[in-house]
Amino acid sequence: MSDVLSLTRAARLIGVTRAELQRKIQRGEMISHDGTVTVGNLLACYPDAQLEDNAETRRIAQIKERAFGKRVYERALPEPEVLAARITELSTTLARSENQMKKFNTLLTRLWDKLDAAADSTATELKDWLKQEVELATEPGSINPLAIKDAVLSVMTAQVTVLPSKHDFLVEGHDTLLEAAVRSGIPLDYGCSGGNCGKCKARVVSGQVKKTRLHDFVISEAEKSQGYILLCSNTAVSDLVIEAPVANSVQDIPYQQIKAHVKTSGHINDDMILLHLQTPRTQRLRFLAGQSVTLQVGQSFSAELPIASCPCDDRNLLFHVHRQDGNLFSDYIFEHLKHNDAVEIEGPLGEFILHEKSTRPQYFFAFDTGFAPIKSLIEHALSLNVETINLHWFGSSRQSIYLPNIAHAWDDALDDFRYREHVAGFDLRTVNGPREEKLLKLLSDIAATDAYLLEGDIYIAGPEDAVNVAERFFLGKGLPKTRVSVASVK
Ligand code: FES
Repeated sequence: MSDVLSLTRAARLIGVTRAELQRKIQRGEMISHDGTVTVGNLLACYPDAQLEDNAETRRIAQIKERAFGKRVYERALPEPEVLAARITELSTTLARSENQMKKFNTLLTRLWDKLDAAADSTATELKDWLKQEVELATEPGSINPLAIKDAVLSVMTAQVTVLPSKHDFLVEGHDTLLEAAVRSGIPLDYGCSGGNCGKCKARVVSGQVKKTRLHDFVISEAEKSQGYILLCSNTAVSDLVIEAPVANSVQDIPYQQIKAHVKTSGHINDDMILLHLQTPRTQRLRFLAGQSVTLQVGQSFSAELPIASCPCDDRNLLFHVHRQDGNLFSDYIFEHLKHNDAVEIEGPLGEFILHEKSTRPQYFFAFDTGFAPIKSLIEHALSLNVETINLHWFGSSRQSIYLPNIAHAWDDALDDFRYREHVAGFDLRTVNGPREEKLLKLLSDIAATDAYLLEGDIYIAGPEDAVNVAERFFLGKGLPKTRVSVASVK
């Protein structure tokens, strides 16, 4: 086990979230260098670290599984060849350690004999001390539990560090490197996911990879000798360091046109449909959480809709479609769209995205269907292990808070997640006069009871009128524009 651990690996070993370790570092309770911690520093902060699974980590995994669906959190053992390679690596380390142990034992025996031969008081004192130290070192309790857990984890998972961004993620089961990165919410560059386009080309700086499929994209001999591989066609055998570009802004994501198909289209209630589209395996949608796309159905009926799912599942895209009488797109979705119909997707669009590097508490304000992009942001935040999330969902009516179970499940399962519902009692698409005053009063009440609200990052999504009022409220409280993100949802 290396003495220096990445935060991801350290969090996994101790059984806490990465965010908890980051908070300890920020508070100066744990020493960290360049995003890593030493085993000594980790144990100094967590002296009772045990082998047992941590209940908190299990609960977070469960809620993610419920929130994202099984397809994202399916777990499987790595392929036999990968397992064999990792076990061989461990066995080699074990054999090396045993060999060293034998040499040290021989050295100890010779030292003992020499002290015996010396037979003076200093030698006797030294022998007593040596005996005591050997007994201490060989006590069963002296084995570092983290080392055992790390050995087990390194058979099941491999850690990948991405340069120069310093993101890191774990590769589990038989995921490719690209699949594992996308599931962890890391926006690496990619295109076809099938070995054809070459967009996921990256350089292996250290570690061992294994091809998971033959690919059509040609990597030249010169590139191979420099360590270039396709992330969509390789998995990690050992821990890896790779060089790969990561999207930092919406400008880094290309505009895409994809023909998807309807997987399901079901009523959430009389006025709301949950539309699940699936893209072809080789043409997934790259987007950042919170962004929208244009959907086109039937005879060119189109609408711009926020994606209500996480980029960590780039093939399965969810949308919340609101019934709007007289709107041809909405009419078509409610009356005609059926399983397997084709839907054209264009995008992504918009700059309503998460401030991933922020360490401030995150506050989400959803008005009616504004929950769709907010849900995408929260799922992404959960995949990045962001903590301290607050969600306020305002509904024109009780029915407008149309998926409360998802929000309640997050609230129940995560300690640092708080969810509150607010029924406005009027149509949030038209907010002026007394309605505006009522909305401002609701926001003032929240601000008066939450001391951290104005220290946080604010995300607001929903009908334009409601969003404008909420945005003015927070800017009026002195928050800079950079900390108040807004998205209008029709
Ligand atoms: S994403 Fe196209 S080759 Fe990997």
